[in-house]
Amino acid sequence: MDNIKLNDLRRQYTPLRNEILSALDAVFTDMNLFLGPNTRAFEKEWAEYCNTAHAVGVDNGTDALIIALRAYGIGKGDEVITPANTFVAIAEAIHEVGATPVFVDINPETYNIDVEAMKAAITSRTKAIVSVHLFGLAADMDAILEVARPKNILVIEDASQAQGAKYKGKRVGALGDSACFSLYYTKNLGGYGEAGIFTTNDTKVANTFALLRKHGEEPKYHTVISGYNSRLDEVQSAILRIKLPHLEEWNSQRRHWASVYTQELQGIVETPKIPDNCESVFYVYVIRTPQRDALKEKLLAAGVESGIHYPVPLHLQPMCQEYGYKKGQFPVTEKYAEEILSLPMFAELTESDVQRVCNAVKKSL
Ligand SMILES: Cc1ncc(COP(=O)(O)O)c(C=O)c1O
Repeated sequence: MDNIKLNDLRRQYTPLRNEILSALDAVFTDMNLFLGPNTRAFEKEWAEYCNTAHAVGVDNGTDALIIALRAYGIGKGDEVITPANTFVAIAEAIHEVGATPVFVDINPETYNIDVEAMKAAITSRTKAIVSVHLFGLAADMDAILEVARPKNILVIEDASQAQGAKYKGKRVGALGDSACFSLYYTKNLGGYGEAGIFTTNDTKVANTFALLRKHGEEPKYHTVISGYNSRLDEVQSAILRIKLPHLEEWNSQRRHWASVYTQELQGIVETPKIPDNCESVFYVYVIRTPQRDALKEKLLAAGVESGIHYPVPLHLQPMCQEYGYKKGQFPVTEKYAEEILSLPMFAELTESDVQRVCNAVKKSL
């Protein structure tokens, strides 16, 4: 019997294959590979989906974060607050623009930023908060904005793991000052390689961002500001346009499998707690148990692959040593890093896959 993968994208490709191959053929026949009709159309469609005035595509989600910080003029001497339990790209982006990352602990229920801890971390140098919607669940944006707005601190959503997720009925991407999305191939909406996009209602910021993604050139071969080579290409855009109309259905299928997992596994392991005012898109389904490492091994022996998001908190990453954090500073993040385990999660799972995963978890514990 085949292993059940954490995310088996082959199953998503099969029904879309003909449509994707003919779209790629059209792109290659046209040979207009950058900032062409598919990218322009996808940017428009993504802005409409997120209900924002602008969407600007880039090469990947890390670049979206770097270029967003640059577009706001954030740099040396500035501090940017972000949760300690997230993907390293955020720390890299803050470091890359010359600012200082300020990490804070996570809320034990939602795994997103702890708003009280965030409030306590604000100083006169705080310029922005990168609020991550981790595992598909929106952060408590109203509480974050309530703290940030009176102090003129920017709020940038990192919605890389939450395409289509809702907070109080609104989609992420339009909840703060702007938002960055990775569209890496394993995301709920992903291209076939690297891709990313930025959304905002602020026309000036959108224009600066668009300038920075193409070498700061305006007009061509006349660089007004040192930028980046980071354009969303036509190949990725054509694929993303085919996938976007399926995103809602895929997300709702993920929620269905999450509800089956929760029903079967609660009481045996800690299962995700989704606040009533949020609709998660379950980028990953994360359980928690003190026997995590043994469980992971036993699951693999039973043909079930799993993941850890993330084993090393940002403040304990070797790259962050220069900021002087110590082990023990963020107890929730550190405890969870030892206990979390992501189970297989993708729309095309079957009832029998999910039962196999649940049985394997129960048997292992
Ligand atoms: C929360 C978060 N932020 C940023 C990134 C970086 O995106 P990319 O891999 O597209 O550079 C990712 C994903 O990989 C992510 O999950």
